[in-house]
Amino acid sequence: CGIVAYVGHREAAPLVLKGLKRLEYRGYDSSGIALLNGDGLKVYKKKGKVADLEGILHDKVLHATVGIGHTRWATHGEPNDVNAHPHQSNGHRLAIIHNGIIENYNTIKQSLINKGYTFQSQTDTEVLVNFIEEIQKSKNCGTPEAVRIALQEVVGAYAIVVMDAENPDQLVAARKGSPLVIGIGENEYFFASDATPIIEYTKDVVYLDDLEVAVVNKDGLNITNLENVKKDPFIQKVELELEAIEKGGFDHFMLKEIFEQPKSIADCLRGRLLPEEALIQLGGIHNNLSKLAKAKRIVFVACGTSWHAGLVGEYLFEELARINVEVEYASEFRYRNPIIKEGDFIIAISQSGETADTMAALELAKSKGAIILGVCNVVGSSISRITDEGVYTHAGPEIGVASTKAFTAQVTVLTLMALATAKAKGTITDDVFRRIIFELDAIPAKVAEILKKSEEIKDISKLFTFAQNFIFLGRGLNFPVALEGALKLKEISYIHAEGYPAAEMKHGPIALIDEDMPVVFIATKDSSYEKVVSNIQEVKARKGRVIAIVSEGDVDVKKMVDFAIEIPNTHEILQPLLTAIPLQLLSYYIAVLRGRNVDQPRNLAKSVTVE
Ligand code: G6P
Repeated sequence: CGIVAYVGHREAAPLVLKGLKRLEYRGYDSSGIALLNGDGLKVYKKKGKVADLEGILHDKVLHATVGIGHTRWATHGEPNDVNAHPHQSNGHRLAIIHNGIIENYNTIKQSLINKGYTFQSQTDTEVLVNFIEEIQKSKNCGTPEAVRIALQEVVGAYAIVVMDAENPDQLVAARKGSPLVIGIGENEYFFASDATPIIEYTKDVVYLDDLEVAVVNKDGLNITNLENVKKDPFIQKVELELEAIEKGGFDHFMLKEIFEQPKSIADCLRGRLLPEEALIQLGGIHNNLSKLAKAKRIVFVACGTSWHAGLVGEYLFEELARINVEVEYASEFRYRNPIIKEGDFIIAISQSGETADTMAALELAKSKGAIILGVCNVVGSSISRITDEGVYTHAGPEIGVASTKAFTAQVTVLTLMALATAKAKGTITDDVFRRIIFELDAIPAKVAEILKKSEEIKDISKLFTFAQNFIFLGRGLNFPVALEGALKLKEISYIHAEGYPAAEMKHGPIALIDEDMPVVFIATKDSSYEKVVSNIQEVKARKGRVIAIVSEGDVDVKKMVDFAIEIPNTHEILQPLLTAIPLQLLSYYIAVLRGRNVDQPRNLAKSVTVE
């Protein structure tokens, strides 16, 4: 979910609504806004997108200088008008917006029902706001105090902002597990799940920490912990420009982000890859590099696309640095009793740096004494803050829900890390090291070459718009790319797609192949090329329709397949950075031709801060 709040001298409603649109990537099944003016608390909510909410607001008088808003990704209760946030307390004094889950809400709800409280929605959030009101009444205290007491009883995750009709110039916010940024202007304050709704007004922000409560009012900003011990706010400057979060002439954020990859990969390499000096410099892991070179084992923890980047990382670290690697879904890792020994490195990969399962997996690893590193895109995110060290991907804000440029930036960082580790460990010769880094330096230009083929890929896409299923196959480093290709397609077009290691196909998926089954092969020139050629023959023999990603100048595969997309040659271990690109374009065009909302596919959210 995304939350936005404002108190100051501007009109709150347009500001909050604009902010919600920026945060829609975090959830978009319903939204709402609460405003406070002379007539008391007004709450408007609507199922659907923020635009649907605007639709019910046009004839309303919205004048107010304090407001809170929310865009939801449902956890408790279906997406509808009633379950949308903000939620009000029974006494209509308080309104709340909440991102997260209150796990013990049922127990609290029962005790409130016994006291005569009634509930309109099925949400845990409505329970929390009434719990705060009940404490306020029974202890005869102000909202900040009631929030602190309530949160001491709460089990779960939250970022909340509470508005109080009796203190119209005050907002109370708190966080545990879900992100919350406070923007500080001239006699005005902004709250949001990330900095994007804030940056056009102020660059001064405070990232609230877990178990902190922030109160803003006429006296300024006051931060305490749940026991009311004062904390000094740490004010930082956000380095984020407005253009970075706008579409810039592209039809969709996803397309813009696909096309940004030459730049995002170059940004990721900048200052780190020094080909002339045959050097890789990773300041972010400076203190741990020599330990990493001696690591007995590396465990990558991640979810979704970031997990696929981890699988590429496994090949890279094993191949170059000869370190034993495991790649774990964060949600599985954390609920086992994972074996972590001294000298193990746990590396989280996360675009947002906020994914709840990844964060929890890291906390567990840390508690068991592991060294934890992060590969995050969002600067200042929760994961980047709890890790010992890390390397930012610097891909810039990724707004399309389906990850594209963040994936290639993650793979770029993992390549740099594996190379630097191999060098420190002595498992790579100077010659090979030099060859790879020269090739790596050339990757952004080669990605730009592939993007020139977008029209060709669009034409191929037209022929597959009505496919019901798709299979993506690759071997070695291109196996995770096949998984990622399938994930992209299913996320945004809703076509069922499976990624498989090409050789494994004959142990199951081959049963699905007939003339209606499109099969995408990554068949570039590498050490398994001949083997992939045999796998393509197996599919063609069963009348499957094949689209192949091939290396420039390929002859053999081109003769066999229905469509071939040529990409530039590169060093084998860098191939994922190129082979991923045509697959992104293929799924983008298929989804657009099917009329899907590619930036905000149904049921998904970009940043999943619930487990
Ligand atoms: C969500 C997004 C995916 C993303 C995954 C992990 O499911 O829709 O695109 O790969 O979360 O997110 P992270 O921010 O941790 O990389």
